[in-house]
Amino acid sequence: MKILVTYYSLTGNTRLIAEAIYEVLPQPKSLLSLSEVNSVENYELIFIGFPVHSHSVPYQVERFLKNLPVGKKIAFFFTHGSIPGTRLSREALEQAMVLAGKEKILGTFSCRGKVSPEALETLGKSPEHELWAEMAVTASSHPDEHDLQDARTFGRWILSLAHQ
Ligand SMILES: Cc1cc2nc3c(=O)[nH]c(=O)nc-3n(C[C@H](O)[C@H](O)[C@H](O)COP(=O)(O)O)c2cc1C
Repeated sequence: MKILVTYYSLTGNTRLIAEAIYEVLPQPKSLLSLSEVNSVENYELIFIGFPVHSHSVPYQVERFLKNLPVGKKIAFFFTHGSIPGTRLSREALEQAMVLAGKEKILGTFSCRGKVSPEALETLGKSPEHELWAEMAVTASSHPDEHDLQDARTFGRWILSLAHQ
Protein backbone atom coordinates (compact mmCIF):
# COMPACT_ATOMS: atom_id res chain seq x y z
CA MET A 1 0.00 0.00 0.00
CA LYS A 2 1.47 3.35 -1.07
CA ILE A 3 1.13 6.00 1.64
CA LEU A 4 1.30 9.80 1.42
CA VAL A 5 1.78 12.11 4.39
CA THR A 6 1.08 15.65 3.26
CA TYR A 7 0.78 18.84 5.26
CA TYR A 8 0.35 22.57 5.13
CA SER A 9 2.39 24.36 7.81
CA LEU A 10 3.16 28.05 8.16
CA THR A 11 5.36 28.00 11.26
CA GLY A 12 6.47 24.36 11.45
CA ASN A 13 4.22 22.83 14.14
CA THR A 14 2.15 20.73 11.76
CA ARG A 15 5.28 19.68 9.89
CA LEU A 16 6.71 18.20 13.11
CA ILE A 17 3.58 16.09 13.54
CA ALA A 18 3.77 15.03 9.88
CA GLU A 19 7.37 13.88 10.37
CA ALA A 20 6.47 11.89 13.50
CA ILE A 21 3.65 10.07 11.68
CA TYR A 22 5.84 9.46 8.62
CA GLU A 23 8.59 7.92 10.81
CA VAL A 24 6.47 4.93 11.85
CA LEU A 25 4.96 4.08 8.48
CA PRO A 26 6.31 1.34 6.20
CA GLN A 27 7.57 1.84 2.64
CA PRO A 28 6.49 2.76 0.04
CA LYS A 29 5.70 6.19 1.49
CA SER A 30 6.18 9.89 0.71
CA LEU A 31 6.33 12.97 2.92
CA LEU A 32 5.41 16.10 0.94
CA SER A 33 4.21 19.58 1.71
CA LEU A 34 0.87 20.25 0.07
CA SER A 35 2.42 22.43 -2.62
CA GLU A 36 4.76 19.57 -3.62
CA VAL A 37 1.93 17.13 -4.33
CA ASN A 38 1.26 16.74 -8.05
CA SER A 39 -1.10 13.80 -8.00
CA VAL A 40 -2.59 11.52 -5.36
CA GLU A 41 -3.79 8.87 -7.83
CA ASN A 42 -1.22 6.24 -6.82
CA TYR A 43 -1.69 6.57 -3.07
CA GLU A 44 -4.10 4.32 -1.22
CA LEU A 45 -3.78 5.98 2.18
CA ILE A 46 -3.31 9.74 2.66
CA PHE A 47 -2.58 11.58 5.91
CA ILE A 48 -3.50 15.26 5.59
CA GLY A 49 -2.26 17.85 8.09
CA PHE A 50 -3.10 21.50 8.63
CA PRO A 51 -3.06 24.28 11.23
CA VAL A 52 -6.36 25.81 12.31
CA HIS A 53 -6.64 29.32 10.87
CA SER A 54 -9.49 31.54 12.06
CA HIS A 55 -11.61 28.53 13.15
CA SER A 56 -11.20 27.09 9.65
CA VAL A 57 -9.21 24.89 7.35
CA PRO A 58 -6.63 27.01 5.46
CA TYR A 59 -7.71 27.77 1.90
CA GLN A 60 -4.92 25.66 0.35
CA VAL A 61 -6.10 22.59 2.28
CA GLU A 62 -9.72 23.27 1.44
CA ARG A 63 -8.85 23.27 -2.27
CA PHE A 64 -6.85 20.05 -1.91
CA LEU A 65 -9.73 18.28 -0.14
CA LYS A 66 -12.26 19.39 -2.74
CA ASN A 67 -10.10 17.93 -5.51
CA LEU A 68 -9.45 14.52 -3.93
CA PRO A 69 -10.60 11.60 -6.07
CA VAL A 70 -13.57 9.76 -4.51
CA GLY A 71 -13.00 6.81 -2.18
CA LYS A 72 -9.45 7.37 -0.85
CA LYS A 73 -8.60 6.25 2.67
CA ILE A 74 -7.62 9.38 4.55
CA ALA A 75 -6.72 10.54 8.06
CA PHE A 76 -6.52 14.09 9.36
CA PHE A 77 -4.03 15.60 11.75
CA PHE A 78 -4.15 19.24 12.76
CA THR A 79 -2.60 21.64 15.23
CA HIS A 80 -4.24 24.58 16.95
CA GLY A 81 -3.28 27.20 19.49
CA SER A 82 -6.52 27.16 21.46
CA ILE A 83 -7.56 24.87 24.31
CA PRO A 84 -8.71 21.47 22.98
CA GLY A 85 -12.46 21.16 22.48
CA THR A 86 -13.32 24.84 22.12
CA ARG A 87 -15.06 25.94 18.96
CA LEU A 88 -11.82 27.70 17.97
CA SER A 89 -10.41 24.37 16.84
CA ARG A 90 -13.50 22.16 16.61
CA GLU A 91 -15.11 24.07 13.77
CA ALA A 92 -12.11 23.51 11.52
CA LEU A 93 -12.32 19.76 11.96
CA GLU A 94 -16.04 19.79 11.26
CA GLN A 95 -15.33 21.73 8.07
CA ALA A 96 -12.60 19.27 7.03
CA MET A 97 -14.95 16.31 7.57
CA VAL A 98 -17.60 17.92 5.35
CA LEU A 99 -15.06 18.78 2.64
CA ALA A 100 -13.81 15.18 2.62
CA GLY A 101 -17.29 13.67 2.79
CA LYS A 102 -16.69 11.42 -0.23
CA GLU A 103 -13.61 9.78 1.30
CA LYS A 104 -13.17 7.03 3.89
CA ILE A 105 -12.03 8.99 6.93
CA LEU A 106 -10.16 6.52 9.15
CA GLY A 107 -9.40 8.88 12.02
CA THR A 108 -8.30 12.28 13.22
CA PHE A 109 -5.51 13.52 15.46
CA SER A 110 -5.01 16.95 16.95
CA CYS A 111 -2.68 18.67 19.37
CA ARG A 112 -1.79 22.18 20.35
CA GLY A 113 0.86 24.20 18.56
CA LYS A 114 2.63 27.33 19.70
CA VAL A 115 1.21 30.54 18.31
CA SER A 116 3.64 32.80 16.48
CA PRO A 117 3.90 36.44 17.66
CA GLU A 118 2.51 37.61 14.29
CA ALA A 119 -0.50 35.32 14.62
CA LEU A 120 -1.05 36.43 18.18
CA GLU A 121 -1.21 40.02 17.05
CA THR A 122 -3.87 39.13 14.48
CA LEU A 123 -5.80 36.95 16.92
CA GLY A 124 -5.59 39.71 19.52
CA LYS A 125 -8.02 41.67 17.35
CA SER A 126 -10.68 38.96 17.57
CA PRO A 127 -13.53 39.09 20.13
CA GLU A 128 -11.74 36.40 22.19
CA HIS A 129 -8.85 38.84 22.49
CA GLU A 130 -7.69 38.42 26.13
CA LEU A 131 -8.38 34.72 26.21
CA TRP A 132 -6.08 34.31 23.22
CA ALA A 133 -3.19 35.78 25.18
CA GLU A 134 -3.84 33.24 27.97
CA MET A 135 -4.17 30.33 25.60
CA ALA A 136 -0.96 31.25 23.80
CA VAL A 137 0.98 30.89 27.06
CA THR A 138 0.05 27.25 27.58
CA ALA A 139 0.39 26.42 23.89
CA SER A 140 3.95 27.69 23.82
CA SER A 141 5.61 24.35 24.63
CA HIS A 142 3.72 22.40 21.94
CA PRO A 143 4.05 20.23 20.05
CA ASP A 144 6.12 18.53 22.77
CA GLU A 145 7.60 15.03 22.99
CA HIS A 146 4.30 13.58 24.25
CA ASP A 147 2.45 15.08 21.29
CA LEU A 148 4.99 13.54 18.93
CA GLN A 149 4.70 10.18 20.66
CA ASP A 150 0.90 10.33 20.34
CA ALA A 151 1.27 11.22 16.66
CA ARG A 152 3.44 8.13 16.09
CA THR A 153 0.86 5.95 17.82
CA PHE A 154 -1.85 7.56 15.72
CA GLY A 155 0.13 6.69 12.57
CA ARG A 156 0.35 3.03 13.58
CA TRP A 157 -3.32 2.97 14.53
CA ILE A 158 -4.47 4.34 11.19
CA LEU A 159 -2.19 1.91 9.37
CA SER A 160 -3.82 -1.03 11.16
CA LEU A 161 -7.28 0.28 10.20
CA ALA A 162 -6.23 0.75 6.59
CA HIS A 163 -5.28 -2.91 6.36
CA GLN A 164 -8.69 -4.13 7.56
C1 LIG B 1 -3.55 33.49 10.82
C2 LIG B 1 -3.66 32.50 11.96
C3 LIG B 1 -4.92 32.20 12.49
C4 LIG B 1 -5.05 31.27 13.53
N1 LIG B 1 -6.31 30.99 14.01
C5 LIG B 1 -6.46 30.04 14.98
C6 LIG B 1 -7.77 29.65 15.43
O1 LIG B 1 -8.80 30.13 14.96
N2 LIG B 1 -7.86 28.69 16.39
C7 LIG B 1 -6.75 28.10 16.92
O2 LIG B 1 -6.89 27.23 17.80
N3 LIG B 1 -5.49 28.45 16.53
C8 LIG B 1 -5.32 29.38 15.56
N4 LIG B 1 -4.05 29.72 15.12
C9 LIG B 1 -2.89 29.08 15.73
C10 LIG B 1 -2.36 27.93 14.88
O3 LIG B 1 -3.40 27.04 14.53
C11 LIG B 1 -1.28 27.14 15.64
O4 LIG B 1 -0.26 27.98 16.10
C12 LIG B 1 -0.71 26.03 14.73
O5 LIG B 1 -0.02 25.09 15.51
C13 LIG B 1 0.24 26.58 13.68
O6 LIG B 1 0.67 25.52 12.87
P1 LIG B 1 1.89 25.64 11.85
O7 LIG B 1 3.12 25.96 12.66
O8 LIG B 1 1.98 24.29 11.22
O9 LIG B 1 1.56 26.72 10.87
C14 LIG B 1 -3.90 30.64 14.07
C15 LIG B 1 -2.64 30.94 13.53
C16 LIG B 1 -2.51 31.83 12.47
C17 LIG B 1 -1.15 32.12 11.88
